Amino acid sequence: MAARILVVDDDPNVQRLLSYTLKQEGYEVLVAADGAEAVRRWSNEHPDLMLLDVMLPKFDGYEVATKIRAEEGTGKHTPIIMLTAEADVEQKVRGLRAGADDYQVKPFHAAELMARIRSLLARFAPQELMVGRHLLGQVHAYYGAKGGVGTTTIAINAAIALHRELGRKVILIDGNLQFGDHRVFLDLGLDRKSIVDIVIATSIDQELLRNVIVKHDSGVDLLLAPPSPETAELVSSEQHHMVQIIDQLRSMYDYILIDIDKRLDETNLDVISSADALFVVMTADLSCLKNVRLVLETMSQLAFESGKLQLVLNRSNAFTGINVKNAESALKRRIDHQIVNEYRGAISALNSGAPFMFTKADSLLGRSVLDFARAVDRGSKAPADALQFAHATS
Ligand SMILES: Nc1ncnc2c1ncn2[C@@H]1O[C@H](COP(=O)(O)OP(=O)(O)OP(=O)(O)O)[C@@H](O)[C@H]1O
Ligand SMILES: [Mg+2]
Repeated sequence: MAARILVVDDDPNVQRLLSYTLKQEGYEVLVAADGAEAVRRWSNEHPDLMLLDVMLPKFDGYEVATKIRAEEGTGKHTPIIMLTAEADVEQKVRGLRAGADDYQVKPFHAAELMARIRSLLARFAPQELMVGRHLLGQVHAYYGAKGGVGTTTIAINAAIALHRELGRKVILIDGNLQFGDHRVFLDLGLDRKSIVDIVIATSIDQELLRNVIVKHDSGVDLLLAPPSPETAELVSSEQHHMVQIIDQLRSMYDYILIDIDKRLDETNLDVISSADALFVVMTADLSCLKNVRLVLETMSQLAFESGKLQLVLNRSNAFTGINVKNAESALKRRIDHQIVNEYRGAISALNSGAPFMFTKADSLLGRSVLDFARAVDRGSKAPADALQFAHATS
């Protein structure tokens, strides 16, 4: 079942463009051309979200939002995104006071509006509505150039940002099969199921996966590493277990993030070669630079498409004596992403089992990871996201 979106705008061009784009994304679309019709359709047809223009005949967007919120009372909350003509703070505040959950200033790019919609639906709509739309099915591997550079921290928090802030459906796999940290970092007990419960079954299908996947409070799904190292070897490279699992997950999620360990063994190489992107996490020190150079060489020998490999410099503003420019010239390539250094924020999140992207998304570190997640998401666009809305701006 797809989410139903009520588009309220009196301009037929905007109605048409929005309807087209939303349908491309798999949403069902209802349209209203004035304030009175908007309230009527909302009350008769219970849309899952409303896009509400401010300037409307009969009564305007603010009045529509106010009426809806008054009628809703403490009942079901319909998320509303106001479409405003100006970036005027007063207009935004008025919209939010009237009960809008978010606003979108015109002109806008379709990708931006779609991200806002997904994000609100992720917050307010039931999970089953999220699956009606086109899923991206992107596999992203996270690999640390050396131990302790922050690979797990970035993978976990990027997963949460992609889901909560960008409305994507996300699963995170702990690919460090022997010594995975996700149970500790996410405060989950040893009793939770793991990837081993999948590979010991006779066949791997989606129903089995759903039974083993663990749900984190942030809304991100998890596939955990086994609770003790000795069972890790049941995940076999000959049987390509990891790739079999990933292939099934492609049709269930937008993003499948895998936090893999340092060994470039068969299982990890299998995962990397089937990934759509490989994020190599590093810090600015000599041993990392040496390792990144080796990873770049290995990947080119394996004919891994160079455009799929992205360098993530963690703790980028920490003083190490090597700055970004030095690192780039040593590697003879650019660093694609940077995450700021905030040791207290990072370590206290780890030790409390509550990722900062979940509890402190507006911290410096949270904002830095969100920027990273946005860049990642922009790099794997849905087809409809390419449409430009700049001309539909009245
Ligand atoms: N941006 C950051 N700023 C400051 N400290 C950070 C940052 N990112 C991670 N850390 C800290 O670095 C340490 C290692 O983090 P993490 O366990 O995520 O790294 P890892 O590369 O996955 O390590 P391992 O090799 O053990 O798997 C932790 O103490 C964490 O708090
Ligand atoms: Mg780790």
